[in-house]
Amino acid sequence: MTETSLHGSFAVPGDKSISHRALIFSALCKGQVTITGLSPAEDCQSTAQCMRELGLTVTADANEPGRFTVDSPGLKGLRAPKKLLDAGNSGTTIRVMSGLVAGLPFTSHFDGDQSLRKRPMSRVLDLLAQMGATVSFDAKPGCAPFSINGTELKGKEFKLPVASAQVQTALLLAGLQAEGPTVVTLPEIARDHTLRMFKHMGVPFSEPGENSVRVEKLEKPLAGFTIAVPADISSAAFFMVGAACLKGSDVTLKNCGINRGRTLVIDVLRRMGANLELLNEREVSGEPIADIRVRYNGRLQGTTVHGGEVASGVDEIPILSIAGALCNGTFSVEGAEELRHKESDRLTAITNNLSGIGAIVSPREDGFVLTGQESLAGGSAWATHLDHRLAMTGLIVNIICEKPIRIEETESIKISYPTFARDLEHLLRAKPAHT
Ligand code: S3P
Repeated sequence: MTETSLHGSFAVPGDKSISHRALIFSALCKGQVTITGLSPAEDCQSTAQCMRELGLTVTADANEPGRFTVDSPGLKGLRAPKKLLDAGNSGTTIRVMSGLVAGLPFTSHFDGDQSLRKRPMSRVLDLLAQMGATVSFDAKPGCAPFSINGTELKGKEFKLPVASAQVQTALLLAGLQAEGPTVVTLPEIARDHTLRMFKHMGVPFSEPGENSVRVEKLEKPLAGFTIAVPADISSAAFFMVGAACLKGSDVTLKNCGINRGRTLVIDVLRRMGANLELLNEREVSGEPIADIRVRYNGRLQGTTVHGGEVASGVDEIPILSIAGALCNGTFSVEGAEELRHKESDRLTAITNNLSGIGAIVSPREDGFVLTGQESLAGGSAWATHLDHRLAMTGLIVNIICEKPIRIEETESIKISYPTFARDLEHLLRAKPAHT
């Protein structure tokens, strides 16, 4: 193993999922929304720009990074976008906003970058069409670019085959504009930021069963609200895994969201024997948060990530695989086909990159199996496929391996965590008091 370790205590930037929702749900209000801790991710800037196109005024506070005000005319005051709604790299922007515009009386035209153009959109657009929206694809059926002709929607019951919080949220936004009730049931637990934010802002809904939500038409706009966004556990995960793998490390990730639909990284590291404490647990703007302290605790043990829990860490499996490659025993991931539909085919990318650095990995259709080793050789190329989470995983791998790796690019990191490299440097520089 290398002698490198991570030390320090700080808050990673605001949660991307919650930031998207705060910006998009502002449209349900007539008045002013104040957001603090908004994510600086390029994905969230895409959402802010799309919401501006629909008539919201989104203003950054010049004195406090992450503090934004959103002035919203309410759903009835939204206007037809004059320009394309460019979601960039962001699946959450394009899918969740599709649900919003499906009920608005105009045409919205969406597009995204090359990666987003390859991702499946039918999982949400087919269902919005069942509620009455007209969708037309410019080029490839089921993919961006596409147009949505908004209309008066009809509420419907949906049982989703995949536990996608994005699809659930899109349908609920459509349901809030539809005649009759809309019920959305997920096959298993996913992040419930939408429901927590609905409660925080006063959107009425009920939960008729397990993982099931029911909404009806919102008869009048809500009042403006204030929301504090917690630090993003998906960003913190890189340092949590780094600290659990690097001898002598002691890192505290402050004010971090610990929503039950996001805690796979915590559960798996604990199962593997990491010393991981949740300190100062509390609730902020309806979301559970804590300071997460991870101290190196010797070599991690093997474990299996089962299909039913994948949704609670769908973005963290790339970095968790590094802990797996170094474990004592076997680390398996099952039922994770969904990873093939993220910013890249993350299953193929993980297994190829890992075998390059000397890990013992067997790819499976729905996951992979790793036989852990005491150290990883490195010295190889690390493909990112312009996927920000693969690039950040590469930067952690680079400090863990015996020999440096050649990361294809790190530009994509700005999609979710623009200051990642700087923050990692900071944790690498800080040394424990006794050395
Ligand atoms: C997100 C949900 C997840 C996740 C994405 C953000 C959200 O996607 O991968 O990064 O904000 O709802 P799915 O719900 O489609 O799995």
